[in-house]
Amino acid sequence: MSLGKRRGFVYPGSEIYGGLANSWDYGPYGTELKNNIKQAWWRMFVKRRDDMVGIDAALIMNPKVWEASGHLGVGFSDPLVECRNCHERFRADQLKPGDPCPSCGKKGMFTEPRQFNILMKTFLGAIEGEKSVAYLRGETAQGMFVDFKLVLNSTRQRVPFGIAQIGKAFRNEITPGNYIFRTREFEQMEIEYFIREKDWKKQFDYWKEQMEKWMDYLGLNKKHIHFREIAEDERAHYSKRTIDIDYDFPFGTKELYGLAYRTDFDLKNHQSASGQDMTYTDPVTNEKFVPHVIEPTFGVDRSVLAVLCESYAEEKVKDEERVVLRFPKYLAPIKIAVFPLLKNKPELVKKAREIYDNLREKYMCEFDDNGNIGKRYRRQDEIGTPYCVTIDFDTLEKGVVTVRDRDTMKQESLAVANLNNYFQDKLSGC
Ligand code: GAP
Repeated sequence: MSLGKRRGFVYPGSEIYGGLANSWDYGPYGTELKNNIKQAWWRMFVKRRDDMVGIDAALIMNPKVWEASGHLGVGFSDPLVECRNCHERFRADQLKPGDPCPSCGKKGMFTEPRQFNILMKTFLGAIEGEKSVAYLRGETAQGMFVDFKLVLNSTRQRVPFGIAQIGKAFRNEITPGNYIFRTREFEQMEIEYFIREKDWKKQFDYWKEQMEKWMDYLGLNKKHIHFREIAEDERAHYSKRTIDIDYDFPFGTKELYGLAYRTDFDLKNHQSASGQDMTYTDPVTNEKFVPHVIEPTFGVDRSVLAVLCESYAEEKVKDEERVVLRFPKYLAPIKIAVFPLLKNKPELVKKAREIYDNLREKYMCEFDDNGNIGKRYRRQDEIGTPYCVTIDFDTLEKGVVTVRDRDTMKQESLAVANLNNYFQDKLSGC
């Protein structure tokens, strides 16, 4: 967390006003990292597939959506108890009988558990009141269900096919915490994959494999990933089978992603609540049915957190501590840092700028002329930059630069003329 703040990955939200509990801002490097993750996800699950299309639905939907989806009912509620002494609320399932209040320490002061809906309320228009109540979406998924027919009519997709979306979701979580792990405002990458009912087991297994491939791409060690079958009484109200994919975070093994078989629950409910037909007609056989759904869901912020945790390393180098983020190269916020050896030698700075301008056409680069080279290396290690290029007097005289590798810390001399080819090879796929 300290590195995240110091180096510009994640800042406490609204810090100058004393912050806002559990709100976080992504700084320059965190934003790059998050964008790289989202773009990679889109490339893997939308761009490279014929059977997937993407949408970007509104954050505020007609409140009837949340009635039909069940989110306004008990299914999306947490049973809470309130301490009669300090009036703090806690999740009932996280307290044992006889526990003291985690906030004020008083015993025997809890109320009976009550349901508390976690959809975030807002008001549309100037007048507040029941008629203007709306909700910030609690999951991106409903956008895909509500637009199902529109997508079907405006594309040439045939079942099985999927709709994907990346975007913010909001939940009035009772126990947010653990940095960006559980917040009230977060981002999801979700797929609703529409299938025939008879295929659900096969499709479920297929999507589990795809999720494994994705986690491999993120560089997450398989040993840190655990698949957990969710029992019927713990599953979300819409699910007939759910697997949670847990990751060994430093604060415990917790849910990273989820995979659910949502049956035809959502489309059927929207059909009856809206009165709109949600059936699909097979163009060849004329068979009509409401598709069933497999839903692989991925938290963006939890992806960022898992990648940060997996990449973070502290090492001893010649009696000195170094902190390094060993991101896979394609996820690194900055791919190449360019340094003129001395900042008070205009000819070095000019040459370094020239090389920097050339490389930044293709890669996210950073120019740094501040402090000694050792310090600049440490800084780049801490933001996970795979390569540093130093321009010195040999560059001016012999046309060579020094390229330093983040992981091996080896330095090699390279002709400026070969730099493009070198990085094309080293950073292929970035
Ligand atoms: N559409 C299904 C759905 O929303 P979920 O398990 O409630 O299922 C999906 O959420 C994913 O969204 C989780 O696996 C997690 O990665 C992320 N997520 C959920 N609540 C979150 C929160 N409060 N803060 C950060 N990420 C969250």
